[in-house]
Amino acid sequence: MAGPKEKIAGTMEFPPPTPQPNVYPLSWENVTMKLQEVWESAQREYWDPEKLPWDTLDVSKYTWEQRESIAYWWTILSVFDASAPPVFASALIKTYELHEEDVVRRCFFSVTRDEQNHEQMCGLVITKMLDHTDPLTYEPKTDLGRRLQRNAKWLYYNGGRYWEGFKNAVPKYSLAVLFSSFLMGEIAAATIFHQMAAGCKELVFKEGFSKIGKDEGRHMAIVLTLMERDYPKLPPEEKEIITKQIRAGYLFLSAVLFEPPMEFWDIPEDFIATQREAEEMARQAGFHIPDYETKKENWRKAMLNLKGVLDKYDTEFPAIPEVGITGKEITDIEMEDIIPVF
Ligand SMILES: [Fe+2]
Ligand SMILES: [Fe+2]
Repeated sequence: MAGPKEKIAGTMEFPPPTPQPNVYPLSWENVTMKLQEVWESAQREYWDPEKLPWDTLDVSKYTWEQRESIAYWWTILSVFDASAPPVFASALIKTYELHEEDVVRRCFFSVTRDEQNHEQMCGLVITKMLDHTDPLTYEPKTDLGRRLQRNAKWLYYNGGRYWEGFKNAVPKYSLAVLFSSFLMGEIAAATIFHQMAAGCKELVFKEGFSKIGKDEGRHMAIVLTLMERDYPKLPPEEKEIITKQIRAGYLFLSAVLFEPPMEFWDIPEDFIATQREAEEMARQAGFHIPDYETKKENWRKAMLNLKGVLDKYDTEFPAIPEVGITGKEITDIEMEDIIPVF
């Protein structure tokens, strides 16, 4: 059994070197100054979900089917946004372990903080819409609500399979590999939130979406700047992992940005039909969810954007036949391989 650690300060003038990686850098070096601007706008644009104009939201003007349908959309979002705080918190720890630049650490801190806000926003809407604090134990009021809850349970089950994989991936991969996955979520998220902000009738949703969209735009800028810094010196074996991760990210994020691909998501036969029914119901209630074709076009554009970035660094892009993009065939992706978040 190890006894108390022997004191050494009396035996030498300076302590021996601290074993690395040590979690705290004790250094505030800044090189990538572009990120300073992003950090400053994060400070300026910080918002509090509780301070949105909630008093203008009168849920009683919606039918129960509409309420359950709108809450369902936020439930899908929270499968992603409620996992984002711990995901970015572990990326934040990694920036400390790697003794990243001070401004990089601050930027990752801001992303973690923003994602926590997005999660709060999901919670506030769901709680108001359902008059209950969680969509899984809520007692559905309508037949559609019952079917949506079943969908929600399957989404929750699927999302739950990815945390273990993510935890293993963080120490294994460089920040550069993690960035490519993060970027995909951010590109797509920035688009959809701006569209929803423009199309939603309800003031509190409009404001929430435009703030979330702005946050995602900053996250995208952070990741792009770091890619610019690191990708020119990317080793070939990391490029291969990135290609695979992009395909994985596509499959994973499709659930919120498009429709969950059946070969990857373990969901019941009628899942998509039920989801479409709810989306139509929400649209009729003034909650602007882009339609199938618009979602598809968004997703395609987001993928092409990402492809444009990766092409610059000679990193192969995976085939995404679902939205008409050709590239390297990637098969055998499992939930456990997933890194991407929102
Ligand atoms: Fe987010
Ligand atoms: Fe984000």
